[in-house]
Amino acid sequence: MFVLNNNDSVTLYKQLYNQIREHVLSGKLPADSRLPSVRDLAVELSTSRNTVEGAYQELYAEGYIYSRPRSGYFVSALAQDSAPLSLVRKPRKSSINAKILASYRYDFHPARLDQTSFPAALWRKLFIESLRESPGQLVQYCDPMGEPALRRALQLYLERSRGVVCDPEQIIICAGLQQSLDIVAHMLKENHSVVAVENPGYHLPRSVFRNHSFEIAPIPVGSGGLDLDALKAGNSTIAYVTPSHQLPMGCVMPVANRLALIEWAEAGGKLIIEDDYDSELRYHGKPIPSLQGLRPSGNIIYLGTFSKILSPALRVSYLVLPHSLLAAYRLVFQDYFATVSLLEQRILAKFMEQGHWNRHIRRMRTVYKKKHDTLLRAVERHFGARAAVVGQGAGLHVVLQLSGETFGETEIIDRASRKGIRLFPFSDFYVTGESASTKLLLGFGGMTAGEIEEGVALLSSVC
Ligand SMILES: Cc1ncc(COP(=O)(O)O)c(C=O)c1O
Repeated sequence: MFVLNNNDSVTLYKQLYNQIREHVLSGKLPADSRLPSVRDLAVELSTSRNTVEGAYQELYAEGYIYSRPRSGYFVSALAQDSAPLSLVRKPRKSSINAKILASYRYDFHPARLDQTSFPAALWRKLFIESLRESPGQLVQYCDPMGEPALRRALQLYLERSRGVVCDPEQIIICAGLQQSLDIVAHMLKENHSVVAVENPGYHLPRSVFRNHSFEIAPIPVGSGGLDLDALKAGNSTIAYVTPSHQLPMGCVMPVANRLALIEWAEAGGKLIIEDDYDSELRYHGKPIPSLQGLRPSGNIIYLGTFSKILSPALRVSYLVLPHSLLAAYRLVFQDYFATVSLLEQRILAKFMEQGHWNRHIRRMRTVYKKKHDTLLRAVERHFGARAAVVGQGAGLHVVLQLSGETFGETEIIDRASRKGIRLFPFSDFYVTGESASTKLLLGFGGMTAGEIEEGVALLSSVC
């Protein structure tokens, strides 16, 4: 049930203490359940009795567990609301992966891309080219930070298109956001313990940081993104933000707020994690430049992904570390190997070097703009004054704000599901159980224009 990591900078007893505490607070260890004896747990975890005894003593002193003479330690009964918000794991109604194989006629899932968009023929050609060119490299490990050619191509792209200022040496190729954040959390947990996240916001960063025993500080999101007053009033030293297209509300953080956020970070060695996940997809005007570009020498970790434009199945993302963190990165990860296949990285590098990436972005922007506009028209036609669209003009989803009486989220999702419509629960974006009964998230990337039109018409009959 518990896992101790000898290479972790957190002491073994503290790791065990954190894990048991979280199990107690989240209810995974129910009140009055008996903890294993010190001896049994030490054997199970291949650790010393002192480690287990130390963790139990601390939990006992803080009231998380109690002891019965000659019977051992038991979990104390805690009022559910005595648990810090950050440690209560809210069981999600459905996950982004749940029912992923179930097929719906109208799938409004926000992470699906256009069904015909992957450039398979070109990929095959570049795959064969890459295979021919690098047989020698396929029999050895590649650069753990990522293929130099891909990092060079990314550096050029990020500078030109996203205003990110960096050297290729600052870029690390990762297998998706969760790995990017895992790396960040590993590096930062020695000196940081509280991370601010947007509320509502993407659930994955909360999950990754919790798994590294961080406290999660939910910060409300307003029309200018993260509420900076709430951030400043708290004790977080890391802020995870989606400033160019807030997930899920779709707002853009204005530059005054960006500068204020940077100022917050610069006062006292704090850090900003900028997740720039889908900023290529802006349908009116130019893409919003990155926050990182405003202060390249600052404490900003920039994250990007190939999942929104190219394919979420490829599992390729990237991380740009500030110079100040490179030494820490090398120290913590000196024994690690690359997690993304060399061939995939080579193909991507060619894809970018040969200009396909920029063309593909332009093409996908046109494809998704049509779907986005179709969705807005369909909502207008079928919902009229019963709903307003929030966060339009970018990305692969919008939020539908329902007005008047509604059935409530669970009921709407069930009713929609019976009609062959898949909805992603909006409440999953909240850190704790806020009601989201008046908001629906409508992803449109994976649907055809016809499906969007029919799906919205049908949806309007079940809300
Ligand atoms: C806010 C946010 N960041 C990043 C990603 C991309 O994650 P990955 O690179 O793991 O596919 C997503 C995917 O839905 C997202 O919603």
